[in-house]
Amino acid sequence: MPVSLKDQVVIVVGASSGMGRETAISFAREGAKVMAAARREDRLRELEPHGIRVYAADATDPAAMEGLARAALKEYGRIDVLVYATGTNIPDRALTRLTTELWDMMVGVNLNGAYYATRAVLPVMREQKAGSIYYISSKSAIIPDESGASYQAAKRGLAGLAQAVRVEEKDNGIRTCVVCPGLTDTEIILKRPVRTPAETLAKALQAEDVAELVVALAKLPARAWVPEVQLFPAGL
Ligand SMILES: NC(=O)c1ccc[n+]([C@@H]2O[C@H](COP(=O)([O-])OP(=O)(O)OC[C@H]3O[C@@H](n4cnc5c(N)ncnc54)[C@H](OP(=O)(O)O)[C@@H]3O)[C@@H](O)[C@H]2O)c1
Repeated sequence: MPVSLKDQVVIVVGASSGMGRETAISFAREGAKVMAAARREDRLRELEPHGIRVYAADATDPAAMEGLARAALKEYGRIDVLVYATGTNIPDRALTRLTTELWDMMVGVNLNGAYYATRAVLPVMREQKAGSIYYISSKSAIIPDESGASYQAAKRGLAGLAQAVRVEEKDNGIRTCVVCPGLTDTEIILKRPVRTPAETLAKALQAEDVAELVVALAKLPARAWVPEVQLFPAGL
């Protein structure tokens, strides 16, 4: 029997577009109380008709992630789920073009922000003795590809973060899961150095596929733990 998500409190970081946006909407559709965060406030506001609260924040700012957790707690009184769907990539991803500044930015957005968001929600989840954290990583963390060293290193780093949180917080009822999607037709694809052919994109996953997977994982009873899940386009 799936767990009801009604009235569960869900924070989605990276919710202004793509997978994060669809995940926020999917949880709201299940009756969850959702707080959606990202930098582009205008895009976040489009979520308000779904009953979703929005919070403009840069995930690379630890204080902003603390503020987000405080706002969710103040608004809803608890935090049951964190989804870290924040991510980016850069056209200059090849080692011949990558600069140290770009490396730092990539690790900051794709990995450090996940730690800051985790750190912000953990005290609340510990006190509740319950909580689920989903990190959107990538197929690139598993199968080497041309997504770039900074992207692959950061996405693999999410697995280390998830493992450590799980080991240290298991007795507090906190579970983590790394979600590794393959090619998905979202805005991040526009940052590729070479345009992805339309016939390839036609076979890609859609953001809502990832959203439905995260919601299905969250519906598993607290006794069940899925450490990692891969979701690839069937036709690629
Ligand atoms: N699309 C794919 O093929 C694919 C495949 C595997 C994994 N992924 C991963 O899936 C996740 C979701 O990406 P997507 O495909 O849905 O792309 P997307 O539409 O570009 O979404 C990225 C999200 O991250 C947010 N973000 C970026 N920098 C941020 C920052 N500093 N602070 C807060 N939020 C920030 C963006 O919001 P703002 O710009 O408004 O801040 C946006 O909401 C990413 O981690 C990506 O690496 C994507």
